Amino acid sequence: MTPTERDLRYYAALGLAAEASHLALSYFNKRESLGITMKGAQDWLTVADGKVEDFLRSRLSELFPNDSVIGEEGGGRASDAVWILDPIDGTANFAHGDRNWCISIGFLANREPEIGVVAAPALGEVYAARRGAGATLNGDAIKVSGAADIARASVELGWSTRIPAASYLKVIERGYAAGAAVRRGGSGTLGLCHVAHGSSDAYAELHINAWDVAAAIVIAREAGAHVNDFFAGEGIARGNPILCCTPALAERLKEITGIV
Ligand code: IPD
Repeated sequence: MTPTERDLRYYAALGLAAEASHLALSYFNKRESLGITMKGAQDWLTVADGKVEDFLRSRLSELFPNDSVIGEEGGGRASDAVWILDPIDGTANFAHGDRNWCISIGFLANREPEIGVVAAPALGEVYAARRGAGATLNGDAIKVSGAADIARASVELGWSTRIPAASYLKVIERGYAAGAAVRRGGSGTLGLCHVAHGSSDAYAELHINAWDVAAAIVIAREAGAHVNDFFAGEGIARGNPILCCTPALAERLKEITGIV
């Protein structure tokens, strides 16, 4: 892929994120329109998830008919040029009226994460990055914090029912024992973006899907974060563990989380 072809996709992603933000907000601001259903315990689905994904898929197929698309709701298969979408990440927050949710648009070329755009419209935030070109929040450059001491670190640990509660609790226990402040915000995508922005020092989760992190991995890496090799093996199709943190915390957090 040429630099021009990649730039075209970057600017397209920014434009689509803005349009998708309006669509998602129109549902968020009218709670009776959410049409909430449950895919499982704590696994929320709203009408907005489907509508936003359909919108993004149809626009991407018009703009880049040879690219493939994988989305949380509609699935899909990877190719050498693949968009990975989460129409609403933090759906439980979205359904509760909590503003910590986002739209995530990632693009990989030859399995390499190249473009990430994450829009959190209820917070007025757009995180964006291209590989090798730095990361931004609302157009301003961002970078990870300088955190090096686990006893001063703010660490987010993501959770889902895909992992036994006991495994998650062990990581929390080891985190507290090491002196970290542990929290959970309900959006893995924004969890990584907050590390990129320096308002959090680490995000870890024992299993997360590619659509939750594809865009944010580019943003976090470009902001200087350590991120594990998430796309190794079957990462795109089946997900993997994720560890994203300041470089100086990486070794300690590998021990605490078991994620290498
Ligand atoms: C979930 C959120 C959550 C993370 C889960 C994800 P969804 O995605 O990112 O924070 O811990 O692993 O499944 O369902 O809100 O799109």
